[in-house]
Amino acid sequence: MQQANLGLIGGGTVGSGVYHALTRNAALLTSRIGVGLGVRKVAVKAFDEPRPYSIPRRLMTTTWQEVVNDPEVHVVAELVGGTSVARTMILEALKLGKPVITANKALLSKHGEELFATAQRHKTNLYYEASVCGGIPIIKSLREGFVGNQITHLYGIVNGTCNYILTRMSREGAEFDAVLKEAQALGYAEAEPSLDIDGFDAQHKTGILASLAHGFWVDPKDIYVEGIRSVTRQDMEFAAKLGYTIKLLGMVKMTAQAPANRKSDRRQVQVSVYPALIPSSHVLASVGDVFNAVFVRGDVVGDTLFYGRGAGKDATASAVLSDFADAVLDLKCGSVNRVPAFVSHEVNGSVVPIDKVVSRYFVRLRVADIPGTLARITRILGDARIGISSVIQPEGQRETFVPLILMLHESPYGAVCAAFEKIRALQVVKGKPVILRVETFG
Ligand SMILES: NC(=O)c1ccc[n+]([C@@H]2O[C@H](COP(=O)([O-])OP(=O)(O)OC[C@H]3O[C@@H](n4cnc5c(N)ncnc54)[C@H](OP(=O)(O)O)[C@@H]3O)[C@@H](O)[C@H]2O)c1
Repeated sequence: MQQANLGLIGGGTVGSGVYHALTRNAALLTSRIGVGLGVRKVAVKAFDEPRPYSIPRRLMTTTWQEVVNDPEVHVVAELVGGTSVARTMILEALKLGKPVITANKALLSKHGEELFATAQRHKTNLYYEASVCGGIPIIKSLREGFVGNQITHLYGIVNGTCNYILTRMSREGAEFDAVLKEAQALGYAEAEPSLDIDGFDAQHKTGILASLAHGFWVDPKDIYVEGIRSVTRQDMEFAAKLGYTIKLLGMVKMTAQAPANRKSDRRQVQVSVYPALIPSSHVLASVGDVFNAVFVRGDVVGDTLFYGRGAGKDATASAVLSDFADAVLDLKCGSVNRVPAFVSHEVNGSVVPIDKVVSRYFVRLRVADIPGTLARITRILGDARIGISSVIQPEGQRETFVPLILMLHESPYGAVCAAFEKIRALQVVKGKPVILRVETFG
């Protein structure tokens, strides 16, 4: 194979970034993989849309089928987004036996199983490095670099918007709403920010990482998700006093009842997304602003850390170019599925229901500042066998209801929720308790 051409569907942030990066580094890539590389066609919705990098008009079409069906397009990249037409585009290309690259985590999360099966059936491959954490090569690392490891723990700061907001709240003592508004003005948050701040984008990415690490397809419906809307400046301040920083974490953890070395056992994995208190001394606590990081613990390798830009035209283009090089090398060597897109090696695995997940907790209550309040609360916790590791009631408060912070020992989430339903009903407690998990990476 002398020359391999990429057909892009989508010429927006990522698509134009890929065009620009490939134009800049085509000679370098060619010298590395021994095949000439180029972009043959780019499908867009409208020719005159503004783009981060310009794309020559002669390459553009508004008919995506022209990209998929062009015999001179050897690899197709779907960089459109969404879960409807993008699915059709990918299926059409795979059915023609063409390798496909996608950055579309929402689509993979919803239809990944079908897309991977279609690729297998048509003896081609689907590459998706850009779908999780932009420029960080976490997919390749999990699939190839850690192929000899049982992935026991994975913690990801996988949403740049949330990390930016939490970083600014913590650094400046600012409230969530004010920082969100500024993030929107700066282009770090969407006008409709729910996908990011309610945790759904992190859910898509965490599900993909969990599926890859554990070899059974994780249904997004099984992933417990809490976003960052309820995190307040006050929580940040109390957490800091206790030596913690609050981060939105995507978590994939093998539970104790899942022996690592017996294939016949049904694997149980915690897969969840929520804001958690992490020790301020932990390396993930220093991952600030829009940066992403993934902390992976393998049973052979131990602890590893990946850090970088999780989005943006250039970082994401870097991941697409890596996939393009892999696809071309597979075509050149005739080694289709040398590294399959997804291997279901633990088909019987399942996600642990969140009620059964055990962790430590930080709880903030507003309580009446009168004798006996603490005793009534601790009695309910004691009856539920939930241990308290520390209690803070800041002095100098003048209101009738004052904050009370409880740090709890490890307990199942279901038991903690049930206990705080009872505590909430006490007359000495005002409002809904704020319950955040504490992650100590043990
Ligand atoms: N942006 C990031 O930093 C980032 C990072 C990682 C992954 N991703 C993923 O990458 C994908 C693309 O994101 P993006 O930010 O690049 O989106 P974008 O800027 O909105 O670009 C989308 C592109 O798709 C084109 N398009 C839409 N409908 C089309 C159709 N029916 N036929 C042909 N072209 C069509 C648009 O054409 P026009 O230009 O004419 O409007 C545009 O060029 C998404 O799945 C996203 O989740 C993005």
